[in-house]
Amino acid sequence: MSKRNDSDLWRALESIGRAPDLSTIKRLFEKDPERASRMSAEQSGIFLDFSRNHIEPNTLQRLMELCQQSHLSDQIAAMYAGKKINLTENRSVLHTALRNTTPANDHGLTQISFDVKESLKKIKIISDLFRTKQLTGATGKSLNTIINIGIGGSDLGPRVVYKALKNESSSIVHYVSNLDAEDLETVINEVDAERTLVIVTSKTFTTQETLNNANRALAKLSTQLKLPKDDIVRKQMIAITASPETAINFGITESNIFEFWDWVGGRFSVWSAVGLSLSMSLGFEVFEELLHGAHEMDTHFATAPYEKNIPVLLALVGLWNINFRKQINLAVLPYSERLGLLPNYLQQLEMESNGKSVDRSGSRIDYTTSASIFGVPGTNFQHSFAQHLHQSPTETPCDFIGIVNPPHSDQENANALLSHCLAQVECLSFGRQETSGETKISAESEMPGDRPCNVILLKELNAMTLGALLAAYEHKVFVQGVIWNINSFDQWGVELGKSLSKSYNHIFENDGMGDVSQRAFSERLIEQIGKYRPSSAE
Ligand code: F6P
Repeated sequence: MSKRNDSDLWRALESIGRAPDLSTIKRLFEKDPERASRMSAEQSGIFLDFSRNHIEPNTLQRLMELCQQSHLSDQIAAMYAGKKINLTENRSVLHTALRNTTPANDHGLTQISFDVKESLKKIKIISDLFRTKQLTGATGKSLNTIINIGIGGSDLGPRVVYKALKNESSSIVHYVSNLDAEDLETVINEVDAERTLVIVTSKTFTTQETLNNANRALAKLSTQLKLPKDDIVRKQMIAITASPETAINFGITESNIFEFWDWVGGRFSVWSAVGLSLSMSLGFEVFEELLHGAHEMDTHFATAPYEKNIPVLLALVGLWNINFRKQINLAVLPYSERLGLLPNYLQQLEMESNGKSVDRSGSRIDYTTSASIFGVPGTNFQHSFAQHLHQSPTETPCDFIGIVNPPHSDQENANALLSHCLAQVECLSFGRQETSGETKISAESEMPGDRPCNVILLKELNAMTLGALLAAYEHKVFVQGVIWNINSFDQWGVELGKSLSKSYNHIFENDGMGDVSQRAFSERLIEQIGKYRPSSAE
């Protein structure tokens, strides 16, 4: 068993976190009115204010010592240099190399930098062809619509960016991920089959959901266009994968395969060819800006002092709340419809990366790792779970994200959104107590406040700031993983469910006659499903 409280520093932080006289956020501001100016950081049009947390200056100092104790700067250097830090899969972790596109320093990764550049060239060529209507389908008509089929990291990254950045001139991209046939059906029935390109995105090219949807899409297009499947695959299907042989075996033409590599984790892959749908619909230059924004954050992460380092601060505040204040949830609340999928993206990024219970040497750990993340766009939250956040005895830390100059020109609307954002932050962190005025406040309308909040302001929402924001959260995950001494880059916990589902499928395919005893825990459910199914005798 690996125990974090073996260390004096960890124990000291635990006792600060437990102290009964820990100041309220309001009190911290009264003691130090300059707190908000000091407890903030800025980079690439992103401003982080983390002053509304129960963190005194000396606590922050001690939290930063955790970085030193965990040799964070060596770990960052190891990641950037392609050391095999994903120990259980014996892989490098090099999403940062994907956005280091004109390297002044390639960290000794000459071949990798070359491969990245070649891949970007190929992405640019097909994107330009598509956007100038020179890419034609099986009937000779130019393609203008994309269906991206993929799941998890092969879906969420491009999906969140497309929703954030699309405009009237972007070509339409539909993202299909769910194994439930309804997901694809809804899309495939509304597109023009002659003008639709299907991009099958899967790192492994073995993921059941994706292959199932890809096969169904192929069959549908072939039926709708009355053409053999081979013609459709050749002209209207592309694969993005780290396993080109498997894609070829599936039937995809070799020249239609866009490769990425085993050193790109699925949830860190939007910067690779996995972002092809973005480059094709929004333009290669927009995709490049996304990469540039992320690269700026990579440089900031590796060079800025910890007290002004956005990813480090996000990580330390999160860790403080999780491990020392025992607050195991995080609400992500973007005051922007365009950033509406950010909570979903961060769910995979943080929870798949850091929801772990063994350390890097394989020993069980006795401390909490990732928070549980949930969230919706800002004002929508105000009319659903805001009540819980404001008055429930359970405290939930929040990340509020506001956009100062949104892509639309409706200033009034932008003002309204920012006003709500700041109002919620104030209610949550400062509350309203009975002693605050002459008029008596009834118990039910008393607001306890004192709930920790981060506020992230984006100067604008564009490809640069979005790239930087996503990279900041990626590095937050990395820092926390380093301090927790876990491998943030594997995901063994998702495997058992996949293999069990095959054995259940065998039972259902055989009308419940497969070897049910092997799934004894579910015998009653299998029996009930059988009862609800029309019997073959009926
Ligand atoms: O099952 C989880 C997972 O492996 C994720 O980590 C990954 O992003 C997703 O499935 C999709 O995998 P692939 O890109 O190989 O289809």
